[in-house]
Formats: sequence, C-alpha cells, structure tokens
Amino acid sequence: MAHSREHHTPEHLAVVTLAAGKGSRMKSDLPKVLHKLAGKPMLQHVLDTAVQLGDASQHVVIGHGAEQVREAIRGNVIWALQQEQKGTGHAVAQALPDVDPQAVVLVLYGDVPLITVDTLHRLLAHTFTDSGAADALALLTVELDNPTGYGRIVRNADGQVQAIVEHKDANEQQRQIREVNTGILAVSAAALNRWLPLLSADNAQGEYYLTDIVALAVAEGKTVQAIQPQQEYEVQGVNDRLQMAALERIYQRQQADELMTLGVALADPARIDVRGSLIVGSDVSIDVGCVFEGEVILGNGVSVGPYCVIRNSEIAAGSSVEAYSHIDDASVDRNCAIGPYARLRPGADLATGARVGNFCEIKKARIGAGSKVNHLSYIGDAEVGEQVNIGAGTITCNYDGVNKSLTRIGDNAFIGSNTALVAPVTVGKGVTVGAGSVITNDVDDNQLAVARGKQRNIDGWQRPQKKS
Ligand code: UD1
Ligand code: MG
Repeated sequence: MAHSREHHTPEHLAVVTLAAGKGSRMKSDLPKVLHKLAGKPMLQHVLDTAVQLGDASQHVVIGHGAEQVREAIRGNVIWALQQEQKGTGHAVAQALPDVDPQAVVLVLYGDVPLITVDTLHRLLAHTFTDSGAADALALLTVELDNPTGYGRIVRNADGQVQAIVEHKDANEQQRQIREVNTGILAVSAAALNRWLPLLSADNAQGEYYLTDIVALAVAEGKTVQAIQPQQEYEVQGVNDRLQMAALERIYQRQQADELMTLGVALADPARIDVRGSLIVGSDVSIDVGCVFEGEVILGNGVSVGPYCVIRNSEIAAGSSVEAYSHIDDASVDRNCAIGPYARLRPGADLATGARVGNFCEIKKARIGAGSKVNHLSYIGDAEVGEQVNIGAGTITCNYDGVNKSLTRIGDNAFIGSNTALVAPVTVGKGVTVGAGSVITNDVDDNQLAVARGKQRNIDGWQRPQKKS
C-alpha cells in the first residue's frame, strides 16, 4: 500500500445528525437533545464538533419537539423533519434528499455528545478503499463488557464484518459478541440512495434499521471497515439523567485536566465546572466549587477563592477573587481585590487596584483605579473616580421607579458610611461627605457635604420608669 489512508478526507461531506427521538427516560418536557452538558445542549456539542470537520453541510433530523430544537440550536443547519420515528434508517432517509449525491455522509447522534473530531477524521479516512475511492462503509464500533441492548458486529472467520444484528433480533450465539455498533458510520450518499429504499421493517422492533445497510454493502461486495474510538465515552449515548450526569463528570474532568496541564493550580479537579470557555494566564489558582460560564478570561496570577461563580468576564493579572463572589459580565483590571461575598453585575468595570469587599453589589458602574467599596454598598449606574473611598452602607439611589439615573463621584472623594446618593447627582473631586447623609444636590470639588439631622444633646434626661 503506497498511500496512507489517514490523509484522505472526502471532498464533499454531509453530516446527518439524528435527533428525532423523544428521550422518555429523561422524564422531561424538554426534548432530549436540548438537555445541557456543560451548559450547552447536547446536540450543539455534536454540531460544534462536526463543524470542525471543515466544509460540510450539516443536516439534523428532528421530530419530537422539532420547533423547540430548531429555535435552540445555532449554526447553519439544514433541518429534516421525521414526523414519525420509524427507525434510524428511516431517519437518515428524511435528510437524504437534501444531501449532495456526490458527498460522503457521516451519521452522528444528537444524544452522543462527546464524540471527538479526531475519531471522526479517522472514521472518514476509512471510507476510502485501498484504490483511493471513497467507496467503503466505515463503522465505529466498541467492545463492551456488557453489550446488552446494542447491535452486535457479526464478522466471518476471516474477521470481516458481515452484518449488524440488533440485540432484540440476535440469537443466543450472536448475543455473546461483545463488539457493538456505536451507530456512528460514514458512507457515500450514492450508496445510501441505493440501500435505504431496500430496508424493511420486518424485524423485532418493526423499524427501518440503518444497521441493515451493512449486510447490503457486503452483498454488493463493498468494503466494510470498523474502527474504534480513542475513548469509550466518545460513543456513550444519553438516555437518562444518570448517563447525562456521568458524561458531565467525564467532560468536566477533561477540562480540569487541560487546565492543570496549562499550569492552573486547582484545589480539586473534581470540584470545578466550566460551562463555556476558560482562558487562563500563568499561575492562576482556583479553589473548590467554582463555576465558570460563557467566556471567562483569568490573567496571570489571578486567584479565585472557593465557591465563586464567574460568567462572561475578564479578570486581569494579579487580581484576587475571594470566596462566594459572583461576577457576571464584568471587567476587572489588574491587581483588584474582590470579595468575599461580592457581587459584580453586568457593566461593573473595575480599574487597576480597585477593591470591592463583602456584601457589595456593583452594577453598570466604573470604579476608578485604587478606589475602595469595601462593605455593604450598592453602586449602580455610577462613575467613580480614582482613589475614592466609599464608606460602609453607601447606596446610589439610581432608580425612581421609572428612570435609571447616573451618580458621578470625583477622584479622591471620601463618602462617609451610610450615605444615600440620590441620582442624578455629581460629587466633585476631593469631596468629603459626612456619614449618614442623603445627598440630593451636586457637591463642588473639595467641599464637605453633610445632609442629616443635627445632633442635639439634652442634659439631665430621665428615661421613663416602670411602675412597680
Ligand atoms: C441503535 C443501533 C444499534 C446501536 C445503538 C447504539 C439501529 C437500528 N440500531 O440502536 O445498533 O448499538 O444505536 O446506541 O440503528 N432516532 C431518530 N429517529 C428514529 C429512530 C431513532 O432520530 O426513527 C435517533 C434517536 O433519537 C437516537 C438515535 O437515533 O438518538 C438512536 O436511536 P435508538 O432507537 O436509541 O437506537 P437503538 O435502539 O439504541
Ligand atoms: Mg430503538
């Protein structure tokens, strides 16, 4: 053999993903393929992997909850509706009219989310025969200790694949076979166009089995090749919540391993959840129980304490996030200190060296360099300058029930504890606000503002006495 099969990829590729099944065992109103693994629908995982195969048309066969599936899935998908679920062969046949007859068809499953692009490349390479034509049927198979329920791979004495026999149709001897069909296969559209109309539903389940094309291929003298995935989880399907949870843990562990390989110190690789992408610099450390959602970037030396939730945010080098902090759609510059128990809501923007401490909430507000909001404050719709000190319990009253208004606080201002800043209001640079003030009027630079009842001290005051 002069050529290496691994270098062959089909010129035209059509991926047909089956996603019409109900998934009754999930016991859910949500169509099975929309159940989320790492925060993303299972079907989306499959499509995102398939897209990496290059220039392929993406076909998805939908049935149960078709509308809901269509709405939830992103991507350039050609949908095929399978009104009634009459079997996997029938399902593929629904997509076939939209498939380029010159293409190689790769069949995937919306409930088999962890298939890898490497395995699929290898499978596709095996649709080529030794003569270099994309003319073989390539099957993905695995050996299982307990093959119950799966289609068995029947081979002849020479080890050549002859047929797939479904568990329910298999005799005792066939049921001893431990090599099973994963369902994932690749073959030319031309062959499928010939074979699918020949399928019959004369079997134990009364379904049109896609698996029957193997015997048809053999009868035509076509080459049938079986390859195995790198890892068994790649071909594990999800039928119930237990299998879902098992795959979730496998996926999360993989991501944890990748992070550690990149140099992240994870307190416990079994106790981190990444639901999206987490980009990390060097010497990042993450304590237990943290959840990362969407796109999160952690710069060099960032440390994240236990039980933090960080979503769609960037935290720059040298910053630390202490326990139980929630950060959502926020931007944190270098050397900031956040938490414990801090909440950064969308639009929170912390400049270098800013500090946001316990039980503080920041929303749509810029906190300037070196400024501190350390205790029990709400800063929303605000522009806070540099080196500002916001005392405990300060509130920006940004909402009058209809409108949101802005609070501006100049550099070096000192806002006394328990101040209410009634927006719209501007407090100038270097201003001092006395504790307990309700600030409704603008304050000029360097003024002291005190807005509270004056203290009176009364001599000789007698408290009321209880009568005996
Ligand atoms: C199928 C294979 C079996 C293999 C097993 C691996 C057939 C006949 N059998 O069996 O050899 O070992 O997968 O898990 O292919 N689907 C549709 N429309 C249908 C029927 C199924 O979209 O009409 C989808 C289902 O939603 C599911 C997938 O195809 O995602 C597989 O269908 P399922 O009925 O679960 O196949 P199995 O009986 O498990
Ligand atoms: Mg079935």
